[in-house]
Amino acid sequence: MSIDEYILQHIDPESDYLKELYRDTHVRLLRPRMASGHLQGRLLKMFVEMIRPRQILEIGTYSGYSALCMAEGLKEGGMLHTFEINDEQEDFTRPWLERSAYADRIKFYIGDALEIVPRLGITFDMVFIDGDKRKYIGYYDMALKYLSPEGYIIADNTLWDGHILQESHTTDRQTDGIRAFNDYVAQDGRTEKVILPLRDGLTIIKLKIEN
Ligand SMILES: C[S@@+](CC[C@H](N)C(=O)[O-])C[C@H]1O[C@@H](n2cnc3c(N)ncnc32)[C@H](O)[C@@H]1O
Repeated sequence: MSIDEYILQHIDPESDYLKELYRDTHVRLLRPRMASGHLQGRLLKMFVEMIRPRQILEIGTYSGYSALCMAEGLKEGGMLHTFEINDEQEDFTRPWLERSAYADRIKFYIGDALEIVPRLGITFDMVFIDGDKRKYIGYYDMALKYLSPEGYIIADNTLWDGHILQESHTTDRQTDGIRAFNDYVAQDGRTEKVILPLRDGLTIIKLKIEN
């Protein structure tokens, strides 16, 4: 048994609904590896329970797996705003979100989060960055503008399968984007940050609090 299998046997199971969504993602969509999956999904739900956000922003909905996991952790009155730039994704994802038990806690937008979020006038308590790897610095600067003082930013794929350390990937623009993001966040005096080496790497960021 691998350590990954062991972990999955010793954490909360995913619901049948999420299992079915994960399967459907693999059957019907290109690049199904982008979906969060069992372990990261349970972790995102737990982050929501720890942070207790009223408003969550997700950049990059894809099939809706992570959106459903975060919505599951929300308390009464909480809302997840999730953005997907690829309009061809809507026919797959919208029914999965709307038929779920958490439909009333999710607002699904088709469009570029970088354009729409500034027009919403919402302050977010948690931001999950999981969009285009080349635009992570833009998402981060935008997230900081609309983040509540005690809010958290969680950025996915920040170890990019280890490519960030490999010379052969220096010409890949997504790898360059993640490297630039990691360097930018590391030197940013406004925030505290840690990287969790879970799955593809998750960076957890919060604003520094003046004591
Ligand atoms: C890695 S997938 C998201 C996976 C999903 N969060 C999950 O964990 O199950 C990234 C998605 O972000 C979308 N995307 C890229 N740039 C975006 C932007 N500026 N605004 C909104 N969505 C974007 C892509 O089309 C793609 O579907």
